[in-house]
Amino acid sequence: MEEESIWMENVWWKDAIGYQIYPRSFQDSNGDGIGDLQGIIQRLDYLKDLGIDFLWICPFYKSPLDDNGYDISDYQDILADFGTMEDFDELLKEVHKRDMKLLMDLVLNHTSDEHPWFIESRSSKDNPKRDWYIWKDPKDGKEPNNWESIFSGSTWEYDEKTGQYYLHVFSRRQPDLNWENPEVRTALYEMVNWWLDKGVDGFRIDAISHIKKRPGFPDMPNPEGKKYVSSFDMHMNQEGIHEFLQEFRDETYGKYEHALSVGEANGVSTDDAHLWVGDKGKMDMLFQFEHMDLWDYETGKGMDVIGVKQALTRWQKALEHNGWNALYIENHDKPRIISSWGNETDYWRESATALGAMYFLMKGTPFIYQGQEIGMTNVYFDSIDDYDDVAARNLYKDQLEDGISEEDILYTLGKTSRDNSRTPMQWSSEENAGFSTGKPWLKVNKNYPEINVEKQLQEKDSILQFYKDMIQLKKDHKIFTYGSYDLLLPDDEQIIAYKRELEGQTAIIVTNLSDQQATWPVEDDLVLTDKHIVLNNYEVEPHEHVKDIPLKPYEARVYLI
Ligand code: GLC
Ligand code: CA
Repeated sequence: MEEESIWMENVWWKDAIGYQIYPRSFQDSNGDGIGDLQGIIQRLDYLKDLGIDFLWICPFYKSPLDDNGYDISDYQDILADFGTMEDFDELLKEVHKRDMKLLMDLVLNHTSDEHPWFIESRSSKDNPKRDWYIWKDPKDGKEPNNWESIFSGSTWEYDEKTGQYYLHVFSRRQPDLNWENPEVRTALYEMVNWWLDKGVDGFRIDAISHIKKRPGFPDMPNPEGKKYVSSFDMHMNQEGIHEFLQEFRDETYGKYEHALSVGEANGVSTDDAHLWVGDKGKMDMLFQFEHMDLWDYETGKGMDVIGVKQALTRWQKALEHNGWNALYIENHDKPRIISSWGNETDYWRESATALGAMYFLMKGTPFIYQGQEIGMTNVYFDSIDDYDDVAARNLYKDQLEDGISEEDILYTLGKTSRDNSRTPMQWSSEENAGFSTGKPWLKVNKNYPEINVEKQLQEKDSILQFYKDMIQLKKDHKIFTYGSYDLLLPDDEQIIAYKRELEGQTAIIVTNLSDQQATWPVEDDLVLTDKHIVLNNYEVEPHEHVKDIPLKPYEARVYLI
């Protein structure tokens, strides 16, 4: 307990609530159809009122937008679409004025092919920056190996001018930086410190588990004889990565006491989590991927309730006394959660709130992705022309070539595309959902007259109100931040339930994550009455201690005893 109380005093981010902004789609302030920094300023009071403590804003650096800003051409400039450096300074000031904090999105695995470093690097084989990226000779007239890019196709792009290939784990316009070169690392650290000196409060660190590549760049085993083979095993969480991470931390945010570091840690499991976070760690928390299957394009799988609770519990337990979890169920890389795990047609409100309660009150710092708090859903565009995402467009092209029908591809994208979560934020029932007075860069979801902030602010049982209540509850009782975690009903296929305990208090979070009624066999030592309920998404009948409690479809309850 003593250790916990030290944490409680010293660390601002353990009892904080994070909110992720996708700036292009959050709020447009000047009618060009693109969200911008001034637009974010206009909505800060909304976020404060919701109970948000810090913002993570997706990239707004200068970029040719091949991957919507994750392809940076100048780390120290703002893309004109979003505003100017003065707008950024004003935003930071306005965030701090409201006693909130701001995290930037740091993209260090790769740059844009328009970054001056890459332009130099590709200009000739003996350019001093040649080795800042990863260049290889062709093998038998073809790519140096069979690695497949996360965004489809080969990870290698041929460059006519010098007759070599460069490596790109993501799009071909996102060449990977060569972290083995100390000059690259120093240049990145200087840039990171420049932002810290400006007063930003920390970073979400993009794709950081990919910075180390397998030495020798060997082919992937290819028993099926495919053209390219999924190559995560060669460039994700590779041996030796921790030397880079340690140095990065020591040279940058490690020197800034209050800076928060959140790593996007694809491929990190609980077995090696303690090398990433905790007393030997290099970051404060991680976005782990084990419950979310990122980059998974299989459709219609629905929610694997047992799989999700096992993955989340594994992380809860692994970081129980050492380290800290970042909790999330949505982001800009995943379709909307109600559309994939909930039931947007029959139990929209109920499934949104039950899924919310399921993850939010675990031990860790919860993040909300813009629009999640009002239950935004997938967009289901009916033409490929409406899609913007490079991953969606690549997938479309590849699958067409493989002879898959257009209808089937659009079905897949409707379920899985990242554009599902990138449609404009639905603020009101005004034209374009109050996002912009101009033509939005990506179409607004047609359901905005029903699903929007303004409407939900007026309804006392709205999803938005539920989120507000849940945030307030977490802030009012430190058990939800510091209490221990124990999974209940490990084998139940409908219910996810867990117990938190702190200093003689107990909280029970129970969620039925199916569209059928469920029965909750209450453990014998739990004496629960309706008077203990502090959060619920259905009206609850008065009840004294009972053995089996029926739960309606997507019912969620929190008891505090
Ligand atoms: C991360 C980002 C994603 C981006 C990729 C490449 O996974 O979240 O949006 O496409 O990195 O930078
Ligand atoms: Ca704008």
